[in-house]
Amino acid sequence: MRVLFLGDVVGRSGRAAINARLPGLRAEWRLDFIVINGENASAGMGLTPDHARAILDAGADVVTLGDHAFDQKDMLSFISTEPRILRPMNFGKGAPGQGAGVFQATRGRKVLVAVALGQVFMKRPFADPFSAVDDVLRAHPPGGAVQASVIEIHAEATSEKTAMGHFCDGRASLVVGTHTHVPTADTMLLPGGTAYQTDAGMCGVHDSVIGMDKAEPLRRFITGMARDRFTPATGEATLSGVLVETDDSTGLARKVHAIRTGGPLVEALP
Ligand SMILES: [Fe+2]
Ligand SMILES: [Fe+2]
Repeated sequence: MRVLFLGDVVGRSGRAAINARLPGLRAEWRLDFIVINGENASAGMGLTPDHARAILDAGADVVTLGDHAFDQKDMLSFISTEPRILRPMNFGKGAPGQGAGVFQATRGRKVLVAVALGQVFMKRPFADPFSAVDDVLRAHPPGGAVQASVIEIHAEATSEKTAMGHFCDGRASLVVGTHTHVPTADTMLLPGGTAYQTDAGMCGVHDSVIGMDKAEPLRRFITGMARDRFTPATGEATLSGVLVETDDSTGLARKVHAIRTGGPLVEALP
């Protein structure tokens, strides 16, 4: 299967790039399944129901969320009505919605998608992501009832994400990090056959500070004082992520490609 994963959609420019390009890429790259993190799609913070529907309508099979999952309050009720949206498994015991699911890909094939939050350098003390991921992978072993599996680790620390990759090696098709909004250059197949990249990067504007208009972050770093709110940068967004080619019978990866297209980042295509 050809599975595309795209990192955090940031603001209007990120949404516009998804709308404009995803339907064409689905055909051009013969994609069987698409996962997109949407946690920053609405004004840079969270995801509204309307924007969630737009990303799904553009061709995403699953939209995932991270630490900003419920910044837009309407998501608290909407997520229970839309199984194609996942919040992190370890977000909190009382959180509505699900953190993992099995979804339909092309030709009747099934894909497990699960998202977990890291613990290192995160704002809240989230529960252990390793045990959450272990549970879901034990329930869906490779070569079993699902033909592919995508584990997203939404975390700040590269070390924690790398450890998650090795923890899942040979048990998942893809382990990919999100949350830092900057793509890493370590796209690879791990020894056990799991595709891995520490961070997918974002679908947002790179002439910015991690997707936000650069004036206010610069002011805060330089003066130590806040004056305005953060707002998403505008301009041409880069779509960033990975495309993994999986083997239906083993559930593991055959090939993985970094994806970066649009905007100022050096282009990477499958
Ligand atoms: Fe994010
Ligand atoms: Fe995040």
